[in-house]
Amino acid sequence: MNHVEVARAVSERGELVLRRCQEGAAPAVLELRANGIFVMDSRETSTERALAGAALDVVARPRDVLVGGLGLGFTLDQVLADPRVERCVVVEIEQALVDWMRDGTVPHGPALLADWRADVVVADIAAALAGARPASYDLVLLDVDNGPGHLVHDANARLYQRELQHTARAVLRPGGALVVWSAAADPALEATLRSVYGEVEARALPVVLQGRELHYWLYAARVPCPA
Ligand SMILES: C[S@@+](CC[C@H](N)C(=O)[O-])C[C@H]1O[C@@H](n2cnc3c(N)ncnc32)[C@H](O)[C@@H]1O
Repeated sequence: MNHVEVARAVSERGELVLRRCQEGAAPAVLELRANGIFVMDSRETSTERALAGAALDVVARPRDVLVGGLGLGFTLDQVLADPRVERCVVVEIEQALVDWMRDGTVPHGPALLADWRADVVVADIAAALAGARPASYDLVLLDVDNGPGHLVHDANARLYQRELQHTARAVLRPGGALVVWSAAADPALEATLRSVYGEVEARALPVVLQGRELHYWLYAARVPCPA
């Protein structure tokens, strides 16, 4: 595998690196690392897209969507493919990544962010949830770590705890949903979400990585509609 560094930035959380990786005659892929930890690449993006799909499937009128974590934008792209969506706010903690998406360092970034329904905000999703108006979103999608058990930043641990989930529930409208992406099954997260929302669905998604079959997970929690 041949790796070429495309961009590098340093923030208060440490180092963010974007690399282009090429194996033989296969198309090159982009890879994002934070402090040396693999965050994602553009090779296997089915579950980033499925995160959006699973959420959009369970809500009748998903007009306003909040996404935690821009990454390379595959979840956002899938959200915007749904004509019912009127606004998608994406909260990304790394200014440099937003810049790389806007200036074409990530080649598909400028066209994606040009969609007038997309609004990218540089902030911590925990702060964005705390500052959002009550009942202002139909969907909240969280994909900021490799899962609650594999944090990219230690401070993100609170995102999966009851207090922050009560905050997330409050920004959702009745009938709305929160969906969390995880690289591994997480019974503790499932229990936390069940205690906050009542109804939770855990879904295993098969993926093939470097010839190995494994599963990523989505946890979908619903805010009940009034009777
Ligand atoms: C796995 S990537 C998201 C992938 C995205 N779903 C996609 O389709 O490309 C995780 C992103 O979350 C960002 N992030 C990590 N912690 C965050 C936080 N607390 N608030 C907002 N963004 C965060 C990272 O910088 C990274 O861009």
